[in-house]
Amino acid sequence: MKASIRNKYGSPDVINLTTRSHIPFPQKDEILVKVKATTVNRSDCGVLTGKPWAIRLFTGLLEPRLKVTGTDFSGVVVSKGDDVDKFNIGDDVYGFFDQGIGSHASYFCVSTKKAILKKPWKITYEQAAASLEGAHYAFYFLDKVVLKKGDKVLLNGGTGAIGNAALQFLKYRGIHVTVTCETDYIPVLESMGADKVVDYTKEDFAKLDDQFDFVFDAVGKSTFWKCKPIMKPNAIYVSSELGPYWQNPLLALIAQFIKGKKVKFPLPFSIHRSMVFINELIEKDKFRPLIDQRYPISEIRDAFEYVMSGKKKGNVVLTFD
Ligand SMILES: NC(=O)c1ccc[n+]([C@@H]2O[C@H](COP(=O)([O-])OP(=O)(O)OC[C@H]3O[C@@H](n4cnc5c(N)ncnc54)[C@H](OP(=O)(O)O)[C@@H]3O)[C@@H](O)[C@H]2O)c1
Repeated sequence: MKASIRNKYGSPDVINLTTRSHIPFPQKDEILVKVKATTVNRSDCGVLTGKPWAIRLFTGLLEPRLKVTGTDFSGVVVSKGDDVDKFNIGDDVYGFFDQGIGSHASYFCVSTKKAILKKPWKITYEQAAASLEGAHYAFYFLDKVVLKKGDKVLLNGGTGAIGNAALQFLKYRGIHVTVTCETDYIPVLESMGADKVVDYTKEDFAKLDDQFDFVFDAVGKSTFWKCKPIMKPNAIYVSSELGPYWQNPLLALIAQFIKGKKVKFPLPFSIHRSMVFINELIEKDKFRPLIDQRYPISEIRDAFEYVMSGKKKGNVVLTFD
């Protein structure tokens, strides 16, 4: 079996694709999954590099606790521990754990206490793997903002994994969405229901002659101050990034004591909760992940390089022979 191993934090160069002769054996609460597809996403990049440093509190301070990379997967249960009753051998499953789950491998064992669900039959293995990371964060960034049907949202970065899932979640709720992307992807986002698409290479969204109830910068390229002119008096600003001076969490704390335009900085917590929502929307045909490049596992370093370039459109899938 193939596995992507690294023994230290660093760039994609620290990864070695190894061939192991043995397949792991599941513990009592674990399933053994034959991986059909997985992705390289921004969480994988954090787990690989150990940056930002705070991530090491969860993944290992000086060196990574988990040597095999990978945070999400879809595949087939091929064996299970004695205590597992949720899944059967032959079930198609998919799951995600942002601190690393060791899924960049042909086979891996995972505890059924992690966020794992049966894969909806309507989507492929590739779509299933690509439905998780960005969509999980999109769910939490939107979850803390109260919006009603017809409210106007400015979504910066509609071709990011988070932004693209957010676009579909907002449209599901009947929200009016103005979204940014580069020229070539305007028709793609329009086909996904965007009400207005702004080409960010030609126009600065913060100078639009419009007012929004919520500004969500899904690629973390703006600031609250820059967006204030396009925010309605009680509008909310959320960014997926800390901000250039790490100001967003602080502004969110202060926001509790002030009136008017505010920053929120939601912290994602239960992946089980977001996965139930994602699964429901897949079943209702209201969410499908945007997939960009596909790489065979043998080209995993290239896949990481591409994701780190900040240029991926939606999700980058890793496939197995
Ligand atoms: N706070 C958290 O818990 C958390 C968790 C996960 C990720 N994040 C952060 O969230 C951000 C987004 O993650 P992601 O996985 O969704 O990103 P991603 O998929 O890597 O985003 C890349 C996409 O964003 C577009 N983009 C880049 N600059 C843009 C701009 N100025 N305006 C509009 N679109 C732009 C790119 O389009 P072009 O190719 O056309 O430039 C590309 O399609 C990352 O910065 C990541 O570090 C935060």
